[in-house]
Amino acid sequence: MDSVDRLIAGFDLALRTVAGVHAARRTSPANGVPEAALSAEARDHAAALMRVNHVGEVCAQALYQGQALTARNAAVRNSLDQAALEEEDHLAWSAGRIEELGGRTSLLNPLWYAGSLALGAVAGALGDRWNLAFLAETERQVEEHLGGHLERLSPEDARTRAVVAAMRADEAKHRQTAVSLGAAELPRPVKSAMRAMAKVMTTVAYRV
Ligand SMILES: [Fe+2]
Ligand SMILES: [Fe+2]
Repeated sequence: MDSVDRLIAGFDLALRTVAGVHAARRTSPANGVPEAALSAEARDHAAALMRVNHVGEVCAQALYQGQALTARNAAVRNSLDQAALEEEDHLAWSAGRIEELGGRTSLLNPLWYAGSLALGAVAGALGDRWNLAFLAETERQVEEHLGGHLERLSPEDARTRAVVAAMRADEAKHRQTAVSLGAAELPRPVKSAMRAMAKVMTTVAYRV
Protein backbone atom coordinates (compact mmCIF):
# COMPACT_ATOMS: atom_id res chain seq x y z
CA MET A 1 0.00 0.00 0.00
CA ASP A 2 1.28 3.49 -0.68
CA SER A 3 1.01 6.13 2.00
CA VAL A 4 -2.21 7.70 0.68
CA ASP A 5 -3.93 4.29 0.62
CA ARG A 6 -2.64 3.71 4.14
CA LEU A 7 -4.05 7.01 5.31
CA ILE A 8 -7.47 6.28 3.81
CA ALA A 9 -7.49 2.75 5.22
CA GLY A 10 -6.41 4.23 8.55
CA PHE A 11 -9.20 6.75 8.57
CA ASP A 12 -11.74 4.05 7.78
CA LEU A 13 -10.35 1.88 10.57
CA ALA A 14 -10.51 4.79 13.03
CA LEU A 15 -14.18 5.42 12.25
CA ARG A 16 -15.07 1.75 12.55
CA THR A 17 -13.13 1.37 15.78
CA VAL A 18 -14.73 4.35 17.47
CA ALA A 19 -18.19 3.46 16.14
CA GLY A 20 -17.71 -0.11 17.43
CA VAL A 21 -18.34 -1.70 14.02
CA HIS A 22 -15.95 -4.58 13.64
CA ALA A 23 -16.10 -8.03 12.14
CA ALA A 24 -13.85 -10.74 13.55
CA ARG A 25 -11.88 -12.88 11.11
CA ARG A 26 -11.71 -15.72 13.62
CA THR A 27 -14.87 -16.87 15.41
CA SER A 28 -15.11 -15.86 19.04
CA PRO A 29 -13.46 -18.26 21.50
CA ALA A 30 -16.77 -18.08 23.40
CA ASN A 31 -18.46 -19.82 20.48
CA GLY A 32 -20.00 -23.09 21.67
CA VAL A 33 -19.16 -22.38 25.32
CA PRO A 34 -22.35 -22.58 27.41
CA GLU A 35 -23.62 -19.45 29.17
CA ALA A 36 -23.45 -19.69 32.98
CA ALA A 37 -26.29 -18.61 35.28
CA LEU A 38 -24.55 -15.55 36.73
CA SER A 39 -25.84 -13.25 39.46
CA ALA A 40 -26.69 -9.69 38.35
CA GLU A 41 -23.62 -8.50 40.25
CA ALA A 42 -21.28 -10.98 38.55
CA ARG A 43 -22.67 -10.03 35.13
CA ASP A 44 -22.21 -6.32 35.76
CA HIS A 45 -18.68 -6.90 37.02
CA ALA A 46 -17.83 -9.04 33.97
CA ALA A 47 -19.35 -6.44 31.62
CA ALA A 48 -17.29 -3.69 33.26
CA LEU A 49 -14.08 -5.74 33.03
CA MET A 50 -14.83 -6.46 29.38
CA ARG A 51 -15.43 -2.74 28.82
CA VAL A 52 -11.92 -2.14 30.16
CA ASN A 53 -10.58 -4.80 27.78
CA HIS A 54 -12.52 -3.32 24.90
CA VAL A 55 -10.96 0.08 25.61
CA GLY A 56 -7.58 -1.67 25.64
CA GLU A 57 -8.33 -3.04 22.21
CA VAL A 58 -9.48 0.36 20.93
CA CYS A 59 -6.11 1.68 22.11
CA ALA A 60 -4.35 -1.27 20.46
CA GLN A 61 -5.99 -0.39 17.14
CA ALA A 62 -4.78 3.18 17.42
CA LEU A 63 -1.29 2.23 18.63
CA TYR A 64 -0.75 -0.23 15.82
CA GLN A 65 -2.12 2.22 13.34
CA GLY A 66 0.02 5.07 14.57
CA GLN A 67 3.06 2.85 14.42
CA ALA A 68 2.24 1.42 10.99
CA LEU A 69 1.97 4.97 9.64
CA THR A 70 5.50 5.74 10.75
CA ALA A 71 7.34 2.37 10.77
CA ARG A 72 10.19 2.38 8.28
CA ASN A 73 11.01 -1.22 7.61
CA ALA A 74 8.56 -3.16 5.38
CA ALA A 75 9.05 -6.44 7.30
CA VAL A 76 8.28 -4.66 10.56
CA ARG A 77 5.23 -3.03 9.05
CA ASN A 78 3.90 -6.33 7.72
CA SER A 79 4.27 -8.00 11.10
CA LEU A 80 2.52 -5.08 12.78
CA ASP A 81 -0.30 -5.31 10.23
CA GLN A 82 -0.74 -9.01 11.07
CA ALA A 83 -0.90 -8.30 14.81
CA ALA A 84 -3.30 -5.42 14.13
CA LEU A 85 -5.67 -7.80 12.35
CA GLU A 86 -5.71 -10.03 15.43
CA GLU A 87 -6.41 -6.97 17.58
CA GLU A 88 -9.46 -6.36 15.40
CA ASP A 89 -10.70 -9.82 16.36
CA HIS A 90 -10.18 -8.92 20.02
CA LEU A 91 -12.15 -5.74 19.54
CA ALA A 92 -15.08 -7.62 17.99
CA TRP A 93 -14.95 -10.47 20.53
CA SER A 94 -14.96 -8.10 23.52
CA ALA A 95 -17.75 -5.98 22.07
CA GLY A 96 -19.78 -9.13 21.43
CA ARG A 97 -19.31 -10.35 24.98
CA ILE A 98 -20.21 -6.94 26.45
CA GLU A 99 -23.45 -7.04 24.51
CA GLU A 100 -24.26 -10.55 25.73
CA LEU A 101 -23.67 -9.40 29.29
CA GLY A 102 -25.99 -6.45 28.82
CA GLY A 103 -23.22 -3.87 29.23
CA ARG A 104 -21.99 -1.07 26.99
CA THR A 105 -18.67 0.03 25.55
CA SER A 106 -16.86 3.09 26.89
CA LEU A 107 -18.31 6.51 26.09
CA LEU A 108 -14.76 7.83 25.98
CA ASN A 109 -13.60 5.59 23.12
CA PRO A 110 -12.88 8.49 20.74
CA LEU A 111 -10.65 10.00 23.41
CA TRP A 112 -8.79 6.74 24.11
CA TYR A 113 -8.32 6.28 20.40
CA ALA A 114 -6.92 9.74 19.77
CA GLY A 115 -4.48 9.53 22.69
CA SER A 116 -3.17 6.13 21.63
CA LEU A 117 -2.84 7.15 18.00
CA ALA A 118 -0.63 10.04 19.05
CA LEU A 119 1.47 7.76 21.27
CA GLY A 120 1.81 5.20 18.49
CA ALA A 121 2.92 7.86 16.03
CA VAL A 122 5.53 9.18 18.48
CA ALA A 123 6.83 5.66 19.11
CA GLY A 124 6.93 5.05 15.36
CA ALA A 125 8.85 8.27 14.76
CA LEU A 126 11.56 7.17 17.22
CA GLY A 127 12.52 4.39 14.81
CA ASP A 128 11.70 0.71 14.56
CA ARG A 129 13.79 -0.45 17.52
CA TRP A 130 11.93 1.83 19.95
CA ASN A 131 8.66 1.45 18.14
CA LEU A 132 8.92 -2.31 18.71
CA ALA A 133 10.12 -1.79 22.28
CA PHE A 134 7.02 0.21 23.08
CA LEU A 135 4.85 -2.39 21.43
CA ALA A 136 6.48 -5.31 23.24
CA GLU A 137 6.05 -3.58 26.60
CA THR A 138 2.43 -2.68 25.85
CA GLU A 139 1.67 -6.28 24.95
CA ARG A 140 3.43 -7.51 28.08
CA GLN A 141 1.39 -5.21 30.31
CA VAL A 142 -1.86 -6.14 28.54
CA GLU A 143 -1.03 -9.83 28.94
CA GLU A 144 -0.48 -9.34 32.68
CA HIS A 145 -3.61 -7.30 32.95
CA LEU A 146 -5.72 -9.98 31.24
CA GLY A 147 -4.23 -12.54 33.61
CA GLY A 148 -5.49 -10.36 36.46
CA HIS A 149 -8.96 -10.36 34.93
CA LEU A 150 -8.98 -14.15 34.82
CA GLU A 151 -8.51 -14.03 38.59
CA ARG A 152 -11.24 -11.44 39.10
CA LEU A 153 -13.89 -12.99 36.83
CA SER A 154 -16.37 -15.46 38.22
CA PRO A 155 -14.96 -19.01 37.83
CA GLU A 156 -18.32 -20.05 36.32
CA ASP A 157 -18.27 -17.39 33.63
CA ALA A 158 -16.74 -19.69 31.01
CA ARG A 159 -17.78 -17.56 28.02
CA THR A 160 -16.04 -14.41 29.21
CA ARG A 161 -13.05 -16.40 30.38
CA ALA A 162 -12.67 -18.08 26.99
CA VAL A 163 -12.43 -14.67 25.29
CA VAL A 164 -9.98 -13.25 27.84
CA ALA A 165 -7.75 -16.34 27.76
CA ALA A 166 -7.57 -16.34 23.95
CA MET A 167 -6.73 -12.64 23.89
CA ARG A 168 -4.01 -13.16 26.44
CA ALA A 169 -2.47 -15.92 24.31
CA ASP A 170 -2.48 -13.60 21.27
CA GLU A 171 -0.90 -10.72 23.22
CA ALA A 172 1.92 -13.03 24.32
CA LYS A 173 2.48 -13.91 20.67
CA HIS A 174 2.45 -10.23 19.67
CA ARG A 175 5.05 -9.47 22.31
CA GLN A 176 7.28 -12.29 21.07
CA THR A 177 6.90 -11.03 17.51
CA ALA A 178 8.01 -7.55 18.53
CA VAL A 179 10.98 -8.97 20.45
CA SER A 180 12.01 -11.21 17.57
CA LEU A 181 11.90 -8.23 15.19
CA GLY A 182 14.51 -6.52 17.34
CA ALA A 183 12.66 -4.56 20.04
CA ALA A 184 14.91 -2.62 22.41
CA GLU A 185 14.26 -2.82 26.17
CA LEU A 186 12.49 0.30 27.41
CA PRO A 187 14.05 2.24 30.31
CA ARG A 188 12.38 1.49 33.63
CA PRO A 189 10.86 4.98 34.11
CA VAL A 190 9.11 4.69 30.74
CA LYS A 191 7.67 1.32 31.73
CA SER A 192 6.45 2.80 35.03
CA ALA A 193 4.88 5.77 33.24
CA MET A 194 3.08 3.36 30.92
CA ARG A 195 1.81 1.40 33.91
CA ALA A 196 0.56 4.59 35.58
CA MET A 197 -1.28 5.62 32.42
CA ALA A 198 -2.80 2.17 32.04
CA LYS A 199 -3.98 2.35 35.65
CA VAL A 200 -5.84 5.61 34.98
CA MET A 201 -7.34 4.21 31.80
CA THR A 202 -8.52 0.95 33.39
CA THR A 203 -9.96 2.70 36.46
CA VAL A 204 -11.94 5.17 34.37
CA ALA A 205 -13.05 2.61 31.79
CA TYR A 206 -14.39 0.27 34.50
CA ARG A 207 -16.98 2.99 35.20
CA VAL A 208 -17.40 5.06 32.03
FE1 LIG B 1 -5.56 -7.36 21.93
FE1 LIG C 1 -1.78 -7.56 21.11
